[in-house]
Amino acid sequence: MPVSLKDQVALVVGASSGIGRAVAVLLARNGASVMAAARREDRLRALKAEMAGHLLEICCADATSVPDVERLVAETRRVLGPIGIMVYATGTNTPDRALVRLRPAIWDELISTNLSGAYYVTQAVLPAMREARAGHLIYIASISGHTPDISGAAYQASKRGMIGLAHAIRVEEREHGIRTTVINPGLVDTEILEKRPVKLPPEQLAQALLPEHVAEAVLACAQLPPRAVISEMTIVPTVL
Ligand SMILES: NC(=O)c1ccc[n+]([C@@H]2O[C@H](COP(=O)([O-])OP(=O)(O)OC[C@H]3O[C@@H](n4cnc5c(N)ncnc54)[C@H](OP(=O)(O)O)[C@@H]3O)[C@@H](O)[C@H]2O)c1
Repeated sequence: MPVSLKDQVALVVGASSGIGRAVAVLLARNGASVMAAARREDRLRALKAEMAGHLLEICCADATSVPDVERLVAETRRVLGPIGIMVYATGTNTPDRALVRLRPAIWDELISTNLSGAYYVTQAVLPAMREARAGHLIYIASISGHTPDISGAAYQASKRGMIGLAHAIRVEEREHGIRTTVINPGLVDTEILEKRPVKLPPEQLAQALLPEHVAEAVLACAQLPPRAVISEMTIVPTVL
């Protein structure tokens, strides 16, 4: 029997498009009070309008900025209450991913967006979760964090780093009643694919996961009873 999300506050970082947006929508439709965060205010406003009738608030924040993240977490608590679930669905890639094109500034942007931001948000939500002796941290990494591919050195390093971060947090924080899950999707049809140097053929795109499929995986993890946790999950398209 899935645990109800009613009265649970969920902070979703990276909620203006793709997987994070779908997660924010699904969690809110399942009764959670959701704070949807990202940088693009117009996208967040459109999401809030679409979700009228549900408890979904929005907050603009850059996950790579510690002051922004601290403000976001404080605002979430002020508006919705103590945070029970945090989903980090923030991420980026670059057309300049091959080592012959990659430069330190691009490397830094990918590592800070895909990895450091996850740590900053974690650091900001953990003290209250420890005090409550409850909380669920869910990170969207990638199959590129395990299997070498052509997604680029910075992307793969960031995703391997995120998987390591998630497992380290799980081992350290489980004694405080905090659960940690890392989800590794395969190909998902979202805006991040526009950052590929070569566009995917439409027939391949048609077989990709939809963001809603990954959101269903997040929901299934979030609805487990507190004594159970899916520590790591892989979700891939059936035929790719
Ligand atoms: N699509 C795939 O095939 C695939 C496969 C495996 C894993 N993933 C991972 O899934 C996660 C979500 O990506 P997606 O596929 O849903 O792509 P997406 O539609 O491009 O979503 C990326 C999200 O991250 C946010 N974001 C980027 N930089 C940010 C920053 N500095 N601060 C706050 N938010 C930021 C974006 O919002 P703003 O630009 O408005 O800030 C957006 O909401 C990423 O970590 C990606 O690596 C995707």
